[in-house]
Amino acid sequence: MHDYLFVKEVIPAEIKQDSILNIRTNNVTAYTHGFHKYPAKFIPHIPKWAINKYLAGQKNKTILDPFCGSGTTLAEGILAGHNVIGIDIDPLSCLIAKVKTTNVNTAELNKVSNWLAKGVKKKKRGEFKPECETIGHWFPKETINKLSIIRTLINQIPERFGNNKSIKDIQHLLIICFSSIIRRVSYADNESQKTYVSHTHIKTPEEPLSLFLLQLDLFKERIAKFPENIPKLRNRIICSSSTESLKVKLKGQHINLAITSPPYIKAIDYIYNQMVELFWIGDLFGIQTQSKQNEKKKEYIGTKHFHKKEFVKYTPFETTIGIKKLDNKIQKVFKTDKINGHKHAYITFKYFVGMENHFAEISKCLDKGRHYIMVVGDSSVSNIFFYTANFLTEIAERNGFRITNKWGYKIKNRYMRFDRNGRGGIIDIDWVLDLVRV
Ligand SMILES: C[S@@+](CC[C@H](N)C(=O)[O-])C[C@H]1O[C@@H](n2cnc3c(N)ncnc32)[C@H](O)[C@@H]1O
Repeated sequence: MHDYLFVKEVIPAEIKQDSILNIRTNNVTAYTHGFHKYPAKFIPHIPKWAINKYLAGQKNKTILDPFCGSGTTLAEGILAGHNVIGIDIDPLSCLIAKVKTTNVNTAELNKVSNWLAKGVKKKKRGEFKPECETIGHWFPKETINKLSIIRTLINQIPERFGNNKSIKDIQHLLIICFSSIIRRVSYADNESQKTYVSHTHIKTPEEPLSLFLLQLDLFKERIAKFPENIPKLRNRIICSSSTESLKVKLKGQHINLAITSPPYIKAIDYIYNQMVELFWIGDLFGIQTQSKQNEKKKEYIGTKHFHKKEFVKYTPFETTIGIKKLDNKIQKVFKTDKINGHKHAYITFKYFVGMENHFAEISKCLDKGRHYIMVVGDSSVSNIFFYTANFLTEIAERNGFRITNKWGYKIKNRYMRFDRNGRGGIIDIDWVLDLVRV
């Protein structure tokens, strides 16, 4: 058990090393934060804390989140009056992040959404067909037609209202609004990180047309608050794999503060999580079918999806990371898990190599004295506990960073509870590493 430091809504700038906060909040979905579910989303309070601490009283600085996910950092950055850059490999996350940080013209949005609302009530059949043979397993028949009607109308927007940037932004907002209801109108369990139909908890899917229209009202109300709060600020979202260096992606742009929560080891399969949504909007990213989705999974840091031939020759005794305690742990996974040890050891090794490459790259993009705030959770692999936060600190320190503080906070979101249990119990702490470029 920990001695928690109770905090209400606002995290104090100075926090004693190794403290664990219990943050009381009922405000995690304010502004555009609640637009779309995303696994391992962090609470907006974390980026807000970092921005207040390191960019206090300043405006128009540039904040980077190199694993931006659904854009929590980016939305907070914009709200605080800064320019933001987000990078992620996951195309749906990038679109969510873009929509959450993009002003739209209220009059145009009203015009398009009124037309759409009329259309969904009037239209009898949709032309859009998901490329999924098992679609009937995931959705009631009537729902499939109703979702098809919405998607067909959203597709018609440029033809009807023009193909300029401001209409495209509105179309993107409507796509994300559409995507945000899909899990709820499917048979798949609403709360689970994995997309599956439970046969023990039979679910009654919600009615799609009324839910979509309700959600549309919420999106309109929330996005309208953005222009009131912010002048013209830049958001740049880069949806990209790791093949291109960070420096090239950033085009030499100076970063004043970086804030992120990187992937966890082996824990989250983002594509699997988004499976029902991708049946309906995956065509926009070229991942509408399950086989395309399976290929995409291989690109994520922390993934457990790769070909066997990639690791047949790997052993953790010959190929090491060079951090004794970490190498010992990976060797333990290899030796003690008789069934999956080889694969799990490789997954873990590959995760830390991926993160080391990341630190090497980001250290080239941050000037001396700039801070990099990273939120990470420890995990267990094959029942062996990994102090991921400490290992990542060591890796960061051999790549041009110094740790200035480390504190934790209690995770309350059930959507975040995956297999982190080492030593007899769920580990529900995330660590905040405050690194500085030296
Ligand atoms: C913990 S999530 C970030 C969540 C985010 N903080 C939020 O609030 O939504 C980690 C992200 O890392 C991304 N990711 C995994 N591998 C990546 C890679 N090679 N390059 C860029 N992003 C990657 C995942 O797609 C995921 O969105």
